[in-house]
Amino acid sequence: MIFYFTGTGNSYQAALALCGEGETPLDLAKCLREGRGAFDLEEGEALGIVCPVYYGGVPSTVLEFVRSLQVSNPPEYCYVLLTCASSVSGAAGQLAEALAERKIRLHAAYSVVMPENDVIHYAFSPEEERDAVLADAAETLRVIERCVAERRELGLHIPPRGRMITQSAYPYYEQDRETKHFHVDDQCVGCGKCVERCPVSAMVMENGRPKWVKDKCALCMACIRCGAVHYDEATKGKKRYVNPILKSCH
Ligand SMILES: Cc1cc2nc3c(=O)[nH]c(=O)nc-3n(C[C@H](O)[C@H](O)[C@H](O)COP(=O)(O)O)c2cc1C
Ligand code: SF4
Ligand code: SF4
Repeated sequence: MIFYFTGTGNSYQAALALCGEGETPLDLAKCLREGRGAFDLEEGEALGIVCPVYYGGVPSTVLEFVRSLQVSNPPEYCYVLLTCASSVSGAAGQLAEALAERKIRLHAAYSVVMPENDVIHYAFSPEEERDAVLADAAETLRVIERCVAERRELGLHIPPRGRMITQSAYPYYEQDRETKHFHVDDQCVGCGKCVERCPVSAMVMENGRPKWVKDKCALCMACIRCGAVHYDEATKGKKRYVNPILKSCH
Protein backbone atom coordinates (compact mmCIF):
# COMPACT_ATOMS: atom_id res chain seq x y z
CA MET A 1 0.00 0.00 0.00
CA ILE A 2 1.51 3.30 -1.08
CA PHE A 3 0.38 6.70 0.23
CA TYR A 4 1.53 9.96 -1.29
CA PHE A 5 1.28 13.69 -0.74
CA THR A 6 2.03 16.12 -3.55
CA GLY A 7 1.69 19.79 -4.36
CA THR A 8 3.14 19.96 -7.84
CA GLY A 9 3.36 16.33 -8.94
CA ASN A 10 6.93 15.19 -8.20
CA SER A 11 5.92 12.90 -5.34
CA TYR A 12 2.95 11.60 -7.33
CA GLN A 13 5.33 10.65 -10.15
CA ALA A 14 7.63 8.97 -7.59
CA ALA A 15 4.71 7.07 -6.00
CA LEU A 16 3.51 5.86 -9.41
CA ALA A 17 7.02 4.62 -10.20
CA LEU A 18 6.88 2.33 -7.15
CA CYS A 19 3.44 0.89 -7.87
CA GLY A 20 3.16 -2.70 -9.00
CA GLU A 21 0.90 -3.72 -11.85
CA GLY A 22 -2.71 -2.71 -11.20
CA GLU A 23 -1.73 -0.83 -8.03
CA THR A 24 -2.83 2.78 -7.45
CA PRO A 25 -1.16 5.03 -4.89
CA LEU A 26 -3.49 6.58 -2.31
CA ASP A 27 -3.69 10.34 -1.91
CA LEU A 28 -3.19 10.75 1.84
CA ALA A 29 -4.62 14.29 1.92
CA LYS A 30 -7.83 12.94 0.36
CA CYS A 31 -7.92 10.14 2.95
CA LEU A 32 -7.62 12.76 5.71
CA ARG A 33 -10.37 14.92 4.19
CA GLU A 34 -12.63 11.87 4.03
CA GLY A 35 -11.77 10.83 7.60
CA ARG A 36 -10.17 7.58 6.44
CA GLY A 37 -7.35 6.62 8.81
CA ALA A 38 -7.75 2.85 9.22
CA PHE A 39 -6.42 0.53 6.52
CA ASP A 40 -6.26 -3.23 6.04
CA LEU A 41 -2.80 -4.45 5.13
CA GLU A 42 -2.62 -7.89 3.61
CA GLU A 43 -0.26 -10.46 5.13
CA GLY A 44 3.28 -9.48 4.09
CA GLU A 45 2.15 -6.30 2.33
CA ALA A 46 4.58 -3.36 2.42
CA LEU A 47 3.62 0.15 3.54
CA GLY A 48 5.15 3.10 1.68
CA ILE A 49 4.84 6.85 2.18
CA VAL A 50 6.01 9.19 -0.56
CA CYS A 51 6.15 12.95 0.04
CA PRO A 52 8.22 16.07 -0.50
CA VAL A 53 10.69 17.62 1.93
CA TYR A 54 9.64 21.02 3.28
CA TYR A 55 12.05 23.15 5.34
CA GLY A 56 14.13 20.08 6.12
CA GLY A 57 11.10 18.16 7.40
CA VAL A 58 7.84 16.81 6.01
CA PRO A 59 4.55 18.57 5.14
CA SER A 60 2.18 19.18 8.06
CA THR A 61 -0.50 17.10 6.28
CA VAL A 62 1.81 14.06 6.16
CA LEU A 63 2.53 14.29 9.89
CA GLU A 64 -1.19 14.68 10.59
CA PHE A 65 -1.94 11.60 8.49
CA VAL A 66 0.75 9.43 10.08
CA ARG A 67 -0.27 10.49 13.60
CA SER A 68 -3.78 9.13 13.02
CA LEU A 69 -2.79 6.12 10.90
CA GLN A 70 -4.11 2.71 11.94
CA VAL A 71 -3.09 -0.43 10.09
CA SER A 72 -4.58 -3.87 10.61
CA ASN A 73 -1.18 -5.63 10.87
CA PRO A 74 2.24 -4.10 11.56
CA PRO A 75 3.83 -3.94 8.10
CA GLU A 76 6.67 -6.39 7.48
CA TYR A 77 8.35 -3.66 5.46
CA CYS A 78 7.76 0.07 5.84
CA TYR A 79 9.63 2.66 3.82
CA VAL A 80 9.47 6.34 3.01
CA LEU A 81 10.51 7.98 -0.21
CA LEU A 82 11.29 11.68 0.09
CA THR A 83 11.37 13.87 -2.98
CA CYS A 84 13.53 16.96 -2.54
CA ALA A 85 15.31 19.65 -4.50
CA SER A 86 18.65 19.19 -2.73
CA SER A 87 18.66 17.57 0.71
CA VAL A 88 16.29 15.67 3.02
CA SER A 89 17.83 17.06 6.25
CA GLY A 90 15.75 15.79 9.19
CA ALA A 91 12.71 14.61 7.22
CA ALA A 92 13.38 10.86 7.50
CA GLY A 93 14.03 11.07 11.23
CA GLN A 94 10.86 13.11 11.72
CA LEU A 95 8.78 10.49 9.89
CA ALA A 96 10.49 7.63 11.72
CA GLU A 97 9.49 9.21 15.03
CA ALA A 98 5.90 9.80 13.95
CA LEU A 99 5.61 6.20 12.71
CA ALA A 100 7.18 4.85 15.91
CA GLU A 101 4.44 6.62 17.88
CA ARG A 102 1.98 4.48 15.86
CA LYS A 103 4.11 1.39 16.66
CA ILE A 104 5.27 1.12 13.06
CA ARG A 105 8.97 0.51 12.47
CA LEU A 106 10.56 2.27 9.52
CA HIS A 107 12.83 -0.14 7.64
CA ALA A 108 14.18 2.14 4.94
CA ALA A 109 14.23 5.78 3.86
CA TYR A 110 14.94 6.66 0.24
CA SER A 111 15.30 10.03 -1.41
CA VAL A 112 15.28 11.35 -4.94
CA VAL A 113 16.24 14.80 -6.16
CA MET A 114 13.53 16.33 -8.31
CA PRO A 115 12.95 19.86 -9.65
CA GLU A 116 12.54 22.68 -7.12
CA ASN A 117 8.90 23.77 -6.74
CA ASP A 118 9.33 26.44 -4.06
CA VAL A 119 8.41 29.55 -6.03
CA ILE A 120 8.40 31.62 -2.84
CA HIS A 121 12.11 31.30 -2.15
CA TYR A 122 13.60 30.47 -5.55
CA ALA A 123 13.45 31.41 -9.20
CA PHE A 124 13.26 28.38 -11.42
CA SER A 125 15.95 26.92 -13.59
CA PRO A 126 15.56 26.78 -17.37
CA GLU A 127 13.38 24.00 -18.77
CA GLU A 128 16.31 21.98 -20.17
CA GLU A 129 17.85 21.83 -16.67
CA ARG A 130 14.57 20.68 -15.19
CA ASP A 131 14.22 18.02 -17.88
CA ALA A 132 17.73 16.77 -17.04
CA VAL A 133 16.83 16.58 -13.32
CA LEU A 134 13.65 14.66 -14.19
CA ALA A 135 15.59 12.23 -16.39
CA ASP A 136 18.09 11.56 -13.55
CA ALA A 137 15.18 11.17 -11.12
CA ALA A 138 13.54 8.58 -13.37
CA GLU A 139 16.77 6.56 -13.26
CA THR A 140 17.02 6.88 -9.45
CA LEU A 141 13.38 5.80 -9.11
CA ARG A 142 14.11 2.62 -11.07
CA VAL A 143 16.88 1.78 -8.58
CA ILE A 144 14.62 2.56 -5.60
CA GLU A 145 11.86 0.40 -7.09
CA ARG A 146 14.28 -2.56 -7.13
CA CYS A 147 15.42 -1.88 -3.54
CA VAL A 148 11.80 -1.76 -2.36
CA ALA A 149 10.97 -4.97 -4.25
CA GLU A 150 13.94 -6.64 -2.50
CA ARG A 151 12.82 -5.11 0.82
CA ARG A 152 16.20 -3.77 1.60
CA GLU A 153 16.77 -2.44 5.07
CA LEU A 154 18.68 0.80 4.94
CA GLY A 155 20.43 2.26 7.94
CA LEU A 156 18.76 5.43 9.01
CA HIS A 157 20.47 8.12 10.97
CA ILE A 158 17.71 9.07 13.36
CA PRO A 159 18.83 12.00 15.49
CA PRO A 160 17.97 12.33 19.17
CA ARG A 161 14.37 13.43 19.50
CA GLY A 162 13.72 16.66 17.64
CA ARG A 163 17.39 17.68 17.45
CA MET A 164 17.83 17.67 13.69
CA ILE A 165 14.50 19.38 13.13
CA THR A 166 15.25 22.18 15.60
CA GLN A 167 18.56 22.79 13.89
CA SER A 168 16.97 22.84 10.45
CA ALA A 169 14.74 25.46 8.90
CA TYR A 170 11.60 23.57 9.97
CA PRO A 171 10.52 26.05 12.68
CA TYR A 172 10.11 28.67 9.91
CA TYR A 173 7.59 26.39 8.17
CA GLU A 174 5.06 27.10 10.93
CA GLN A 175 5.11 30.85 10.37
CA ASP A 176 5.49 30.73 6.59
CA ARG A 177 2.43 28.53 6.10
CA GLU A 178 0.13 31.22 7.45
CA THR A 179 -2.36 31.89 4.64
CA LYS A 180 -2.42 35.65 5.31
CA HIS A 181 0.51 35.81 2.87
CA PHE A 182 -1.64 34.70 -0.11
CA HIS A 183 -3.59 36.92 -2.46
CA VAL A 184 -4.94 36.85 -5.98
CA ASP A 185 -4.46 39.48 -8.68
CA ASP A 186 -6.65 40.83 -11.50
CA GLN A 187 -5.55 38.10 -13.92
CA CYS A 188 -7.85 35.65 -12.10
CA VAL A 189 -10.61 34.40 -14.41
CA GLY A 190 -12.54 32.66 -11.62
CA CYS A 191 -12.09 29.09 -12.92
CA GLY A 192 -11.84 27.63 -9.37
CA LYS A 193 -9.00 25.22 -10.23
CA CYS A 194 -6.77 26.48 -7.41
CA VAL A 195 -9.54 25.72 -4.91
CA GLU A 196 -10.05 22.21 -6.36
CA ARG A 197 -6.30 21.53 -6.13
CA CYS A 198 -5.82 22.59 -2.51
CA PRO A 199 -5.15 19.34 -0.63
CA VAL A 200 -6.23 20.73 2.74
CA SER A 201 -9.37 22.67 1.72
CA ALA A 202 -7.80 25.93 2.88
CA MET A 203 -9.56 27.86 0.10
CA VAL A 204 -13.09 28.51 -1.19
CA MET A 205 -14.49 30.47 -4.13
CA GLU A 206 -16.28 33.65 -3.06
CA ASN A 207 -17.76 36.10 -5.55
CA GLY A 208 -15.83 34.43 -8.36
CA ARG A 209 -12.44 34.71 -6.60
CA PRO A 210 -10.47 32.32 -4.38
CA LYS A 211 -10.38 33.15 -0.71
CA TRP A 212 -8.14 31.54 1.94
CA VAL A 213 -10.37 30.46 4.81
CA LYS A 214 -7.91 28.64 7.07
CA ASP A 215 -5.19 30.37 9.11
CA LYS A 216 -2.55 27.88 8.01
CA CYS A 217 -2.09 25.58 5.04
CA ALA A 218 0.46 22.95 3.98
CA LEU A 219 2.32 25.45 1.73
CA CYS A 220 2.34 22.89 -1.07
CA MET A 221 2.38 25.35 -4.02
CA ALA A 222 -0.59 23.68 -5.78
CA CYS A 223 -2.60 26.93 -5.87
CA ILE A 224 0.46 28.96 -6.93
CA ARG A 225 0.56 26.94 -10.14
CA CYS A 226 -1.73 29.72 -11.38
CA GLY A 227 0.15 32.94 -12.16
CA ALA A 228 -2.69 34.98 -10.61
CA VAL A 229 -1.97 33.61 -7.12
CA HIS A 230 0.78 35.30 -5.13
CA TYR A 231 2.57 34.94 -1.83
CA ASP A 232 3.24 38.51 -0.61
CA GLU A 233 5.53 40.01 -3.25
CA ALA A 234 7.83 36.96 -3.38
CA THR A 235 6.21 35.26 -6.37
CA LYS A 236 5.70 38.30 -8.60
CA GLY A 237 7.02 37.84 -12.12
CA LYS A 238 8.25 34.29 -11.43
CA LYS A 239 7.49 31.22 -13.51
CA ARG A 240 5.77 28.35 -11.70
CA TYR A 241 6.71 24.69 -11.63
CA VAL A 242 4.45 21.72 -12.28
CA ASN A 243 5.61 18.18 -12.99
CA PRO A 244 4.61 17.15 -16.55
CA ILE A 245 2.69 14.18 -15.11
CA LEU A 246 0.05 16.56 -13.67
CA LYS A 247 -0.37 18.49 -16.88
CA SER A 248 -1.83 15.39 -18.44
CA CYS A 249 -3.88 13.86 -15.64
CA HIS A 250 -4.75 16.38 -12.91
C1 LIG B 1 7.50 24.99 1.20
C2 LIG B 1 8.58 24.19 0.55
C3 LIG B 1 9.75 23.92 1.22
C4 LIG B 1 10.74 23.14 0.62
N1 LIG B 1 11.86 22.83 1.35
C5 LIG B 1 12.80 22.02 0.81
C6 LIG B 1 13.93 21.62 1.59
O1 LIG B 1 14.09 21.96 2.77
N2 LIG B 1 14.88 20.83 0.99
C7 LIG B 1 14.76 20.44 -0.32
O2 LIG B 1 15.65 19.74 -0.80
N3 LIG B 1 13.66 20.77 -1.06
C8 LIG B 1 12.68 21.55 -0.52
N4 LIG B 1 11.57 21.88 -1.27
C9 LIG B 1 11.44 21.37 -2.65
C10 LIG B 1 10.51 20.18 -2.71
O3 LIG B 1 10.76 19.25 -1.68
C11 LIG B 1 10.63 19.41 -4.05
O4 LIG B 1 10.57 20.26 -5.14
C12 LIG B 1 9.56 18.32 -4.11
O5 LIG B 1 9.95 17.37 -5.08
C13 LIG B 1 8.18 18.84 -4.46
O6 LIG B 1 7.30 17.75 -4.46
P1 LIG B 1 5.84 17.77 -5.08
O7 LIG B 1 5.97 18.18 -6.54
O8 LIG B 1 5.36 16.37 -4.94
O9 LIG B 1 5.01 18.74 -4.32
C14 LIG B 1 10.58 22.66 -0.70
C15 LIG B 1 9.38 22.94 -1.38
C16 LIG B 1 8.40 23.68 -0.76
C17 LIG B 1 7.12 23.94 -1.49
S1 SF4 C 1 -6.55 32.17 -9.16
FE1 SF4 C 1 -6.16 31.08 -11.08
S2 SF4 C 1 -6.78 28.96 -10.72
FE2 SF4 C 1 -7.68 30.23 -9.08
S3 SF4 C 1 -9.73 30.79 -9.79
FE3 SF4 C 1 -8.36 32.44 -10.41
S4 SF4 C 1 -7.69 31.88 -12.50
FE4 SF4 C 1 -8.58 30.03 -11.59
S1 SF4 D 1 -3.58 27.14 0.10
FE1 SF4 D 1 -2.31 26.75 -1.70
S2 SF4 D 1 -0.26 26.36 -0.90
FE2 SF4 D 1 -1.70 26.17 0.81
S3 SF4 D 1 -2.17 23.97 0.92
FE3 SF4 D 1 -3.76 24.95 -0.35
S4 SF4 D 1 -3.01 24.74 -2.44
FE4 SF4 D 1 -1.27 24.35 -1.07
